[in-house]
Amino acid sequence: MHQEKLDLARGVGLRREHFTHLLEHDPGDVAWFEIISENFFEPGGRPWAVLEKLRAERPVVMHGVAMGVGNATGISRDYLARLAALIERVEPAWISDHLCWGGFGGHYAHDLLPLPYTEEAVRHVAAQVRLAQDVLGRRMLLENVSSYVGFEISAMSEVEFVCAVAAEADCGLLLDINNVYVSAHNHGFDAGAYVDAIPAARIGQIHLAGHSDQGDYLFDSHDGPVIDAVWALYRRVIERVGAVPTLIEWDEHIPSYERLAGEARAAGELSRSACEARDAAA
Ligand SMILES: [Fe+2]
Repeated sequence: MHQEKLDLARGVGLRREHFTHLLEHDPGDVAWFEIISENFFEPGGRPWAVLEKLRAERPVVMHGVAMGVGNATGISRDYLARLAALIERVEPAWISDHLCWGGFGGHYAHDLLPLPYTEEAVRHVAAQVRLAQDVLGRRMLLENVSSYVGFEISAMSEVEFVCAVAAEADCGLLLDINNVYVSAHNHGFDAGAYVDAIPAARIGQIHLAGHSDQGDYLFDSHDGPVIDAVWALYRRVIERVGAVPTLIEWDEHIPSYERLAGEARAAGELSRSACEARDAAA
């Protein structure tokens, strides 16, 4: 493993557009790779050939999109069994999924839907996360999602909800700073105060991404570069908590591998500079 020599900030999401490149080339100075767990539930084929090659060269982490920790009917035991089998095979450095719901009664929205921010939802979600962590035998990170609507019955802010779930489940957090920025704009809260409120010890990974401006709302589209305001929030987090494994997400208009690696390098440089500022202020 090269991780100790490479910057934690330089993670890249594995996308099929880069399979050929990665089968034929060294991954360069990318420190680790994130896979979408559900894309690897069926073993075999080209995706697994790439994954097996990368596993031998770099740490791999597993990011899920379908656990549904907020589903009213609870997490599917069949899903957990499949995830456990994948964990055994991949041996990821860590695993994550989203703080959301996405299905009810066997119907799935294929979307990361926001939850009402209530004590009842905190207790329900935390119990589901504890169950998942018990079954999987490891701690997981929960990611804050972007949202476009809220619930009138919410009794606390989003960041209070995120922190309450993490504390009651005793899980880590994958802080998606672009999601904070998008939701802050859409709901009119202070993104800086949100990231400041997340306990440093809970932040296990950071996501950065691009979004699109739809006029009267921002959309979490992952189809463009990270904007300066999101980079500024990232620096603010790193100056407070120190270096955190970081990944820039792309899901549309995916650039070349070289460009992704270059963006990861830029995140690494910003992280190093923020850590130096932190040390100087200490
Ligand atoms: Fe994300």
